[in-house]
Amino acid sequence: MVDLYMKDLITTQEWTMDEIEEALRVAARYKQIGRAGREFPPVLKNKNFFMVFFAPSTRTRGAFEAGATLLGGHGVYVDVSTTRLGAGEAVKDVAKMYDIYAHGIGVRLLDKVIDFKYGTGNPVIREFARVAKKPVINMADDMFHPTQALGDIMVMREKLKRLQGKKFVVMWAYASKIRGPCSIHADLLIASRFGMDVVLAHPPGFELDPKIMGWVRENAKESGGSFEIVNDYKEALKGAHAVFPRSWHTWQLGQVGLSQFGLERELEIHRKYRDWMLTQELVDDLMEPGAIVTHVLPVFRGEEATDEVMDGPNSVIYEQAEDNLYAKMAVMALTMSGDPGV
Ligand code: CP
Repeated sequence: MVDLYMKDLITTQEWTMDEIEEALRVAARYKQIGRAGREFPPVLKNKNFFMVFFAPSTRTRGAFEAGATLLGGHGVYVDVSTTRLGAGEAVKDVAKMYDIYAHGIGVRLLDKVIDFKYGTGNPVIREFARVAKKPVINMADDMFHPTQALGDIMVMREKLKRLQGKKFVVMWAYASKIRGPCSIHADLLIASRFGMDVVLAHPPGFELDPKIMGWVRENAKESGGSFEIVNDYKEALKGAHAVFPRSWHTWQLGQVGLSQFGLERELEIHRKYRDWMLTQELVDDLMEPGAIVTHVLPVFRGEEATDEVMDGPNSVIYEQAEDNLYAKMAVMALTMSGDPGV
């Protein structure tokens, strides 16, 4: 019996496989209901989900807010720039107040607001979780994006069926913008728990947190999958069943922050790897027939991948975004209500 009532979700690594499977089961049932146009069980009736956004969002806010409404509850959008937090109010006090008002609290804190300094966002979310008794859901920080991971593994399993032994390439891709690695970590962590043969491809200098890479390696060992890191994206793509092409900043930048490292210095390194772009030719020539192209979005079209790929037959990006709605609904229902009604 899986009981997720009042449980935080900071990273999927802290949920058991049974808990993850329960979230995916509920998400799949909600997807059936959503696609059939039926009414969702009102399991969040009279419940508020406070969504504390230190950083912007297109999808995550939309999905949590819409999802809360669909389940009979309410998503309260808190743009931190309009609160007293920016004027020095303590996180502890805000967490305490919202814990009184809310039945669940989501927090997003990453990228520009932490100057891309790796490891400084996640402790703030953990502070919310320490203070609040209600479930705290990580809506993306500098290290993790757990609800994204659930939606991503859901779409991969729907499309590839059995995930054990399927090759999943997480490919660094060129972009003229700076982005943190939370979605990369999220997908590496979850795919390795489902027995996938995970390959991380990036140019030198774009190494990721060795502690998290250790977890991915351990996950793979436990699940019967594998994990490899390579510096050649074409080699990585050979025989792959799924690919996620996305940019992230250099390891060095993450250690000191963007203002100290310098935007131009970082972009100069990115430009050396301008050819790290997913094209339809690469998909057709190197990947398995029927392979899928995933992306958490936003994607930088013409940089990370071509329009042809993103709009092409292998792309599953919109269904992935759809699954992310249902995964977030499942997480809210299970942690805030205990009974998902399905
Ligand atoms: N994938 C994702 O988290 O998108 P947003 O940044 O738009 O929320």
